[in-house]
Amino acid sequence: LVAGQAMGSDLAFDLEAHRGGRALLPENTLPAFANALSMGVDTLELDVGVTADGEIIVSHERGLNPDLARDSSGAYISPPGTPFVKLRLDEIRTYDVGHIRPDSAYAKQFPDQRAVPGTRIPTLKELFALVRKSGNTQVRFNIETKIDPNHPDETLDPQAFVAKLLGVIETEGFFDRVMIQSFDWRTLLLVQQQAPNIPTVYLTLQRGSAPTVALDKATSWMAGFSPADHGGSLPRTIKAAGGAIWSPHFGDVTAALVSEAHALGLRVVVWTVNKRDDMARMIELGVDGIISDRPDLLRQVAGEK
Ligand code: G3P
Ligand code: CA
Repeated sequence: LVAGQAMGSDLAFDLEAHRGGRALLPENTLPAFANALSMGVDTLELDVGVTADGEIIVSHERGLNPDLARDSSGAYISPPGTPFVKLRLDEIRTYDVGHIRPDSAYAKQFPDQRAVPGTRIPTLKELFALVRKSGNTQVRFNIETKIDPNHPDETLDPQAFVAKLLGVIETEGFFDRVMIQSFDWRTLLLVQQQAPNIPTVYLTLQRGSAPTVALDKATSWMAGFSPADHGGSLPRTIKAAGGAIWSPHFGDVTAALVSEAHALGLRVVVWTVNKRDDMARMIELGVDGIISDRPDLLRQVAGEK
């Protein structure tokens, strides 16, 4: 960081770099997170999984992503990628994730992403080390547990997953700078029991978006909680579950829902907002945090308000 540079955004909402700001640099990598730090974001959003030898790694998929992972010969792997829970860290490190497969839909989504060939999947410990070394004592971490009850063989079980994650956070001394988020609320309930001071972030799926299930039907993800038991209200459901933050798709948010959540003492952090108009609308609605692949654009839009 440049001396004297602000460490946070100083905006009315938390500016969160989604996967480190993946429109700019390869997702969930140290170069992306370093870039986000240099831009003065408030929070780094990231996804984690667990390897066969028990390391917490930073990756969005539950296994090697065929759109990202190239083997030592430089060839992209064939789908489906092997789940991380079946690979040791040293095996995972043989793959380069610094360049999106050029012919993929993902590459078309982020045409301006700068490649960083040679980049490897980092551990959470390495990300903490990067931040420590940067001297940034303020940035927070919004850590998503990538676990899915529909694919129990592809990750550790929730109990073991959460135990490993909390272990790293505690050993590295970052307990007071993390939030833990998930679509799989089982992990959040465990965090609340085992580390009650860590805020839990309840992710909800976009209503009606194929191929995801309708929100009120997603009971397996919701760990037994159902909006039907709370007058159809997501904020009330999350409050009942013990959450601190509701993290909906930005398309699901209305002024009434923001008010309802705030009245319950919940914060509202929306994902994933990449277009100028949507950013402006979210700022108008007074949400507490905005997760974006374009933290640069988000800061610019906020400055125009
Ligand atoms: O934090 C919310 C957002 O990251 C959830 O979606 O699929 O990008 O992890 P995804
Ligand atoms: Ca995520």
